[in-house]
Amino acid sequence: MRILSGLQPSGRLHLGNYFGMMQPALQLQHEGDAFYFIADYHSLTSLHDPALLRQHSRDLALDFLACGLDPEKATFFRQSDVPEVCELSWLLSTVTPMGLLERCHSYKDKVARGIEASHGLFAYPVLMAADILIYDSQVVPVGKDQKQHVEVTRDIAKTVNHLYGEILKIPEPRIKESTAVVPGTDGQKMSKSYGNILAIFEEEKALKKKVMSIQTDSTSVEEAKDPDNSLIVSLYRLVASPEDVQKMEDQFRAGGIGYGEFKKRLFEAIWQKFEEPRKRRAELAADPAHVEQVLRAGADRARTVARATLDRVRHAMGLGA
Ligand code: ADP
Ligand code: TRP
Repeated sequence: MRILSGLQPSGRLHLGNYFGMMQPALQLQHEGDAFYFIADYHSLTSLHDPALLRQHSRDLALDFLACGLDPEKATFFRQSDVPEVCELSWLLSTVTPMGLLERCHSYKDKVARGIEASHGLFAYPVLMAADILIYDSQVVPVGKDQKQHVEVTRDIAKTVNHLYGEILKIPEPRIKESTAVVPGTDGQKMSKSYGNILAIFEEEKALKKKVMSIQTDSTSVEEAKDPDNSLIVSLYRLVASPEDVQKMEDQFRAGGIGYGEFKKRLFEAIWQKFEEPRKRRAELAADPAHVEQVLRAGADRARTVARATLDRVRHAMGLGA
């Protein structure tokens, strides 16, 4: 089973990225042949600072490896080290109806948030389809907001197969429902663009400050509180043991403890949960040559698969001799 996913290097890894996509993807690396990549071509649609893009790419490589990506098990690479994907993207774009792209929420959302409405941003789902199809991917672990892009990919692949014969595999999105939408500190979906994130590898003080800023209602210390409508409890469920969660829920209902106290406990749980990855990340950061070598080896492997698919599609479409 070929599993594939990518993350854009566009900022700090947050709890939403981790629980929505990275952790489920990392679990899957033990169940099949996983390909995971840093989607730097995609980041160019919103980031035009070369030094910053390179920095974000390096950071994301560290994040993945620190969180448990095993380069012996999974093929890990930078998207742009396999430029064949751009050629496939063009080939796919010739059979992609405009209407299919016009319906994509992500384009409209990004333009509404002030990202320039470039052709690249509009064609983003076609490049994502090329990412998925070039590796004959069957399973694509992503967060809920990427589901539509995998559906677009399926549509494009079916059109190609209809026109040119069965040359592409049809992929399935894999979405972990329990963590499909992790809330941010203000209760909206956690997202870099909303300024409501809890970044996993944030400095201790800054992270604590962010956790303490989580929105709560005006219930007093003494009063009983509702754990089912609390952001604190929702986030705590992600990082604490079931016993600790039960204890917090009981104490919410009993009253007598203020939100500040619960937030401190949430902070401690987040901090502890990522203690090992934080240590590993610091070690990896001290050895950039090793990280680069992992990415290069991954790209070599990925490129062989990509080349074979691209040749198959080129031939089927009537290109070359
Ligand atoms: P952001 O919204 O912060 O810009 P991205 O769009 O780069 O995040 O998302 C990267 C991956 O993480 C995607 O697979 C996405 O579905 C997932 N993801 C992002 N935010 C969340 C969230 N709050 N809850 C669950 N998954 C998320
Ligand atoms: N669009 C994805 C995101 O913003 C990143 C991505 C690019 C991706 N290509 C992909 C995810 C292929 C899964 C499969 O998070």
